[in-house]
Amino acid sequence: MIQNVYLNYAATSIQKPQPVIDEVCRYLQSNNQLNDKRSYWNQDGELAFNGREVVNDFFHGEDSARVIFTSNVTLSLNMVLNGLLQPGDHVITSTVEHNAVLRPLYLLEKKGVSLQQVFCSPDGKLCPADVEKVFQPNTKVLVLTHASNVLGTILPIKECFAKAQVQGIITVLDIAQTAGFLPIDMQELHADVLAFTGHKSLYALSGIGGFLISERAAKKMQPWLTGGTGSLSQSKEQPNFLPDRFESGTLNSVGILSLTKSIEWLQGIGLETIQKKEQALYDYFLAGLQQLPLRILGTQTIVTSVPILSVVPEKMAPNELGDRLFQEYQIVTRCGLHCAPDAHQTAGTFETGALRFSLGYENTEAEIAYTLRALQEVLG
Ligand SMILES: Cc1ncc(COP(=O)(O)O)c(C=O)c1O
Repeated sequence: MIQNVYLNYAATSIQKPQPVIDEVCRYLQSNNQLNDKRSYWNQDGELAFNGREVVNDFFHGEDSARVIFTSNVTLSLNMVLNGLLQPGDHVITSTVEHNAVLRPLYLLEKKGVSLQQVFCSPDGKLCPADVEKVFQPNTKVLVLTHASNVLGTILPIKECFAKAQVQGIITVLDIAQTAGFLPIDMQELHADVLAFTGHKSLYALSGIGGFLISERAAKKMQPWLTGGTGSLSQSKEQPNFLPDRFESGTLNSVGILSLTKSIEWLQGIGLETIQKKEQALYDYFLAGLQQLPLRILGTQTIVTSVPILSVVPEKMAPNELGDRLFQEYQIVTRCGLHCAPDAHQTAGTFETGALRFSLGYENTEAEIAYTLRALQEVLG
């Protein structure tokens, strides 16, 4: 018997893998029991060092010293965009970005940075030639999401970024929706910066995220967050070396440990296995949704999408449908504009919002069947 169904993985993976929970508990317990509290320093230093290695390896970065830990992708993007862009610079982005990209850019626009958004099609597709067309001599940064958190559509990052790097433009990628689902190779994608968050499909705790940065981008980026680094304390300046140049304040050791373990867990299962399972669930769900009186957003094919399906019912407000699914069937979804107003403008759903279903590795076919039955009952 289905008790409740969680279909909100694009917001956060609420359920954490048991090995992650076990390791975090073990760490906290062992800190309480440390006979020699001095060894705490070494332990946390090692933990961060090891975490950097695991993250760097997972995303095929160039150097683990250039893995910077932050609290989430929002902070990472703020640090990177503010650290790179100066008044007079030009920055390019798309019309399916999350507010984590847009709001820092709007603030920078007020300070004299010129912002250009390249239009995506209503299903979220971006044409690399359209991006190339707007390159200017003063274009400093191209920042894109890897996949829309509303439409699910995966953007053609490699093509766009390769063209940008040839022009000396720094390429910044928001992998909030793809990390843990798509294999991501930073170098192959021509990404100078990969900004990630731990708590979604990477299955780590909330409050841990970060970014990986190429050598050339690190040289051009100013520290935005400054403070104690535990190094060169006599200096008024932030240290020049990485990760200290961009990493200030006490690190979230528990979060780093959870991320290290969750990535090991993902690697143990294999991204291919994870993808296959989620793709099969997506296809099954999509086929059922296509029989119902609703508009489905996005490309409606998993080859070009992450497992997100947003819908607008024909005869009911998305919010009402979401409320009824939750109250009558204990199905958790997410309604509204999903912190991505432009993606909704792009899809033509800014006025109504949409109801988003997003799948994760723990979902089952029985849960999807239950959700489809619930939708049939509510929508008639
Ligand atoms: C594409 C995208 N970028 C950024 C974010 C922000 O993530 P966080 O709140 O973990 O910083 C999200 C979260 O929904 C997202 O989907």
